Amino acid sequence: MYYIGVDLGTSAVKLLLINEDGDILNIVSEEYPIYFPKPNWSEQEPGDWWRATVSGIKKLTADADKSLIAGIGVAAQMHGLVVLDENDEVIRRAILWNDGRTQEEVDFLNDTVGRDKLSEYTANIAFAGFTAPKILWMKEHEPELFARIRRIMLPKDYINYRLTGRHSCDYSDASGMLLLDVKNRRWSEEMLNICGVRTEQLPELYESYEAVGTLKEAVAEELGLNPGVNVAAGAGDNAAAAVGTGTVGDGKCNISLGTSGTIFIPSAGFKVDNNNALHAFAHADGKYHLMGCMLSAASCNKWWQDDILGTENYDDEAARIEDGMLGKNQVRFLPYLMGERSPINDTDARGAFIGMTMNTGRADMLQAVFEGVSFAIRDSFEVARSLGLDITRSTVCGGGARSALWKKILAAVLGIPLDIVKTEQGPGFGGAILAMVACGEYGSVEEACGRLVQVVDSVEPDPELTALYEKQYRKFRLIYPALKDIFKELNKE
Ligand code: XUL
Repeated sequence: MYYIGVDLGTSAVKLLLINEDGDILNIVSEEYPIYFPKPNWSEQEPGDWWRATVSGIKKLTADADKSLIAGIGVAAQMHGLVVLDENDEVIRRAILWNDGRTQEEVDFLNDTVGRDKLSEYTANIAFAGFTAPKILWMKEHEPELFARIRRIMLPKDYINYRLTGRHSCDYSDASGMLLLDVKNRRWSEEMLNICGVRTEQLPELYESYEAVGTLKEAVAEELGLNPGVNVAAGAGDNAAAAVGTGTVGDGKCNISLGTSGTIFIPSAGFKVDNNNALHAFAHADGKYHLMGCMLSAASCNKWWQDDILGTENYDDEAARIEDGMLGKNQVRFLPYLMGERSPINDTDARGAFIGMTMNTGRADMLQAVFEGVSFAIRDSFEVARSLGLDITRSTVCGGGARSALWKKILAAVLGIPLDIVKTEQGPGFGGAILAMVACGEYGSVEEACGRLVQVVDSVEPDPELTALYEKQYRKFRLIYPALKDIFKELNKE
């Protein structure tokens, strides 16, 4: 049988078609716009996601035997607020995971409701990108629109709703709403009260690998698919990427170098970081995970190369960085182009280059971008280590993982080997695996991963480089604390 994995990302939807042995038969990608109406605001049109997904599925399956397609699993950017009215019309553009407009609501939740209470109710504290602060923001700033809300959903759940007519959500994605009692896998009544949300406005909860329904007749017809095709509940993109890279079970780790940069540490039992610097969320395999998320990772590289240098030839650009330059850069880069989430939780933070001299060249600047993102990932690693989690190796996926040089730098900065699996399409592959389990092709996510995910390459950390980067990292750590108050001051109107 065939399965469709959908990865609804921030710049594009990527779709893949695989068979039950995990062979990739086709990959398609469709882009859509992102809107930054004000500094730190970030929005998209749910209708754009839907149109791109429909067109993507049609292209993906154009030459396939459609009668063999058994299931669809969607993975998507997390936390985005999608609101529908009583006619199922989208009320406003979705407010995305990297939107930083909700600092006041975050302060109210963390300081007035209190971090301890939030952690007791949800296992997490508030971050600007999470869904609950956005609901409070709408209530305060758009009361007429807020009053029209009939359904609240996340990006992937909008796609699943259009596919099946079922208002559903899985536990991994629901964890990032700050409305879920993560430990007990149920909505938190306290949080619903605080946010002025009623249970009937929220989706029905599922495990990621459960089927929520089949295709609506009209949708099946439009897609040219059998209406019996099962749609899995799916997962947030990080949990799905973990599945797609085999990051299930204790003692594992996955790093995603996508638009965001994440470290994902699964655990069989529920765990919470006492300082809540790492998110404590449900995993797509029915268990739990801890996660650190930086808001701009591969997007820093894209911004630097596409927008500033005006080049799209990433390989040629990276080839300017000679081996002997690694670990010796005098230029440092803070990657906080959209503010930052883990671990500093600061919507005022901004990008910065520091340390340039008359000798600084184009290659040093790009190298600083690769290094700055790697150091910021290391910041979340240090939090995990401080919790006693011993991460001895990790898989790496996402667009940034295509760069051999970046992987070399990251392995040295973290001092651990990085494994690369056969497909770098982590979330889409994970989504398709979830669809397989939902269709009964495999008995569990763990079993499917064991059969389908293969490590094909590893990057070992170079010990000399690790020693050099250790010193560099200490210096990098000095920069943000020195700029923190200045960023705040500069952002005042
Ligand atoms: C995770 C997060 C991001 C988005 C990116 O908490 O906000 O990784 O899911 O798509």
